[in-house]
Amino acid sequence: MQVVHTISDLRAALHGRGRPAFVPTMGNLHDGHLALVRQARPLGEVLVASIFVNRLQFLPHEDFDSYPRTLQADCSRLEAESCDIVFAPAERDLYPEPQTFTVTPDPALANILEGQFRPGFFTGVCTVVMKLLWCVFAGSGGTAVFGRKDYQQQMVIRRMVRQFALPVEIVSADICRAADGLALSSRNAYLSDEERARAVQLSRTLAWLSQAALEPGSKLGALEAQAMQRLGDGGWQPDYLVVRQRSDLQPPTAETLRAGQLVALGAARLGQTRLIDNLEF
Ligand code: PAJ
Repeated sequence: MQVVHTISDLRAALHGRGRPAFVPTMGNLHDGHLALVRQARPLGEVLVASIFVNRLQFLPHEDFDSYPRTLQADCSRLEAESCDIVFAPAERDLYPEPQTFTVTPDPALANILEGQFRPGFFTGVCTVVMKLLWCVFAGSGGTAVFGRKDYQQQMVIRRMVRQFALPVEIVSADICRAADGLALSSRNAYLSDEERARAVQLSRTLAWLSQAALEPGSKLGALEAQAMQRLGDGGWQPDYLVVRQRSDLQPPTAETLRAGQLVALGAARLGQTRLIDNLEF
């Protein structure tokens, strides 16, 4: 396995190796990330993972500085998954000059939910993903894998790739969960033992919301408010708990509610830790 840090070393390492399968990450790899790597393996001739904590997608008060950076351990785990190339640029390698050209994503998809509570988040994500895809796929095309844990992110990136006609197929991967149902996340490491024991309440509340939404005559607005109340009573500070159409993340109409193809999405803070999760139904 080769570990490269600069764009030119990445391009040299990829030269003549065939079509890449690519998994972008911010590192501190857990089993959810590794499931993406395993899914990507057969989708290309050379398996590439990137590790880069992207300052552009963090708001000033967010956890950019404290975000766990564990490059050595991450590389060992990737090597064990027979990854071929790890692209781990330093900030000066990926952004040698200030990144003043950015990608502004479709506001209909990117200014709701996560984008409403983290303004600029998807501009940061799209800008770095556009740049990473360009670094990995220029000339060759190929496949990149994203997790449905970040449901809206994966949809924003699909639309960006489509609108810019990038030669990249986006494949999405199931959410990896701990035994109790908590979605795996690098940010789970911030939870105290006591918070970790309660963290599963987020996925349980989404499960309750999706069940209740399917009952005949259900009033979604009231159910969503009840879900917020439940988490609030459990000591959480929820940002949103909603049922949306999978196709465009807009609220369902009476008709689409009956037709299914829905997703319940939630984001909430437990102590200092902000967690997100979703459930398709
Ligand atoms: P990061 O949070 O490190 O996640 C990298 C990839 O792993 C994303 O596609 C994410 O959806 C997926 N992932 C994380 N936890 C998962 C879980 N429990 N089950 C399945 N997949 C999971 O998402 C990012 O980094 C960044 O925004 C990035 C796309 C790398 C751009 O900087």
